[in-house]
Amino acid sequence: MCGIVGYTGHREAYPIIITGLKRLEYRGYDSTGVALLNNGLKVYKKKGRVADLEENIIGKDLHAHIGIGHTRWATHGEPSDRNAHPHQSASGKLAMIHNGIIENYAQIKKELENKGYHFTSDTDSEVLLNFIEDIQQNNECDLEEAVRVALKRVTGAYCILLIAEEDPNTIIAARKGSPLVIGVGKGEHFLGSDASPMLEYTKEVVYVNDYELAIVRPDELILKNLGNEKITPFITKLDMELAAIEKGGYEHFMLKEIFEQPSTIQDCLRGRLNAAAGTITMAGVENNIEQLKNANRIMIVACGTSWHAGLIAEYVIEELCRIPVEVEYASEFRYRNPIVNKGDVIIAISQSGETADTLVALERAKANGAFIFGVVNAVGSSIARLSHAGAYTHSGPEIGVASTKAFTGQLAVLNMMALKIAKAKGTITDEYYQQLLNELQDVPEKVASILKNTDELQRIAAKYKDAHDFLFLGRGYNFPIALEGALKLKEISYIHAEGYPAAEMKHGPIALVDENLPVVFVATKDSYHEKIVSNMQEIKARKGKVISIITEGDLVSPTISDDVFSIPPADELIAPLLSVIPLQLLSYYVGTLKGIDVDKPRNLAKSVTVE
Ligand code: G6P
Repeated sequence: MCGIVGYTGHREAYPIIITGLKRLEYRGYDSTGVALLNNGLKVYKKKGRVADLEENIIGKDLHAHIGIGHTRWATHGEPSDRNAHPHQSASGKLAMIHNGIIENYAQIKKELENKGYHFTSDTDSEVLLNFIEDIQQNNECDLEEAVRVALKRVTGAYCILLIAEEDPNTIIAARKGSPLVIGVGKGEHFLGSDASPMLEYTKEVVYVNDYELAIVRPDELILKNLGNEKITPFITKLDMELAAIEKGGYEHFMLKEIFEQPSTIQDCLRGRLNAAAGTITMAGVENNIEQLKNANRIMIVACGTSWHAGLIAEYVIEELCRIPVEVEYASEFRYRNPIVNKGDVIIAISQSGETADTLVALERAKANGAFIFGVVNAVGSSIARLSHAGAYTHSGPEIGVASTKAFTGQLAVLNMMALKIAKAKGTITDEYYQQLLNELQDVPEKVASILKNTDELQRIAAKYKDAHDFLFLGRGYNFPIALEGALKLKEISYIHAEGYPAAEMKHGPIALVDENLPVVFVATKDSYHEKIVSNMQEIKARKGKVISIITEGDLVSPTISDDVFSIPPADELIAPLLSVIPLQLLSYYVGTLKGIDVDKPRNLAKSVTVE
């Protein structure tokens, strides 16, 4: 993870870097630092958030037209001033920021220590920097060549930006496994982990690929591979406005993103779903329909909230398309030598498109001949580019660390995809197909109606905010929603929460139930409804507190529940798109009532680019 920003050009670099770092804080916020070049290097860094650094450097000389900045999510070395980036080389003449992990740093560190090097931090990054400087001095080569030689030696992941006193206009950048975007302006260039730091200056960007090195000057962008051969930069036009990454009057990004869902789901359906005509248009699916409908097996690979979307997709695809589906944690899949046969399809789900475990899992599967279909939010991201085909969720930038609108976007895409495959395969009746199309079309309006009624959820949150544990239970399509509800609460309120299949609860978690345990039932009307009502009775009989998310018109559940929240009716396949909304809000309200910064909860990062 970590966020990186760089600038070289005619403007003042510092304000651009600081604003960019604030936008990238979702990637980590353990420490912040900047290095500026103006008559020598000036490095300022501080444990904590960007605002802490800003406060700390009031009155310092910040004038420069070139600089780099970093916001850290700690891997090697605790969060502290001395482990903050940028690091300076032993000579003091180079400054570098790094996002990623250098896996063989210990061995290189030993070699350098034997040569007399001393290190001022515990980081792998400082080792790489001194390694580069050492190569430059020994080989008497230029910095670019030294970077190339060093990067051929290191294993692991990196995106590095490097500035040097000897060449005060140039930023040298390179990536493998961690994202890097370069914005192209007139007489200036911007660098970032994503495009947000450069949005107000340019819409022309270059997504740097793995094993590429960029030499960036105000008027020049040279891209090379590690073999020193030039590559023509491919310029992409950004389709994103500044307003999309601002809070727009909401107290938190998370709340804004929850309330954006009627429009983000609409954006996802727009141009694809036409219920009146009975059609779904998805080029990525249409162009590969033979491969998809004839798949022997579909494997879904994802992490976190995206993995929960994958679990729901498993139920939906098996039900509608009659294709066996397996859902894998990317981190497990990549290391366990999975069997991937020709004819298998892999669906990768990722908001950021940069999650390291998902990315590497896909690279391995692709190398083994698997067909990769990406369901990704971040346009132009690494997973989007690696996929053979895909469908964007069009949820817009998601900045709150806890994923909300990206999740409903993923569900909308996966539902449409399953419907399209089922139609092509002939495994769905015309009536049910049309019903689901109609229901999908109604989702934005139903989500909007849920969002009009948040007082009750605030009351429930206030009532239970001091609980030490929560249990979330659901069955069928709502079981992954129970997992997601528990994850959301954990992430932003620090309350221990477990999600479980409602019936499986009897095989363990029921031992936790007493009068202090709130149990959230995701119990909308579906084919299992009577069963889950029995599970509510089982909790009630043991004095647990029952909070139920139910379908409007359900008269039975309220008689057993301590608290209820009703949502509009929907087919059970579509219901997760609705039932997740009150759980997102519940965790938001509990988190904010506890005074937690829900956009930046402790220890988490939005885009996990380390394994
Ligand atoms: C992190 C985020 C989660 C996200 C997960 C997977 O843990 O905090 O919100 O679900 O990564 O990220 P991806 O970008 O691949 O969906």
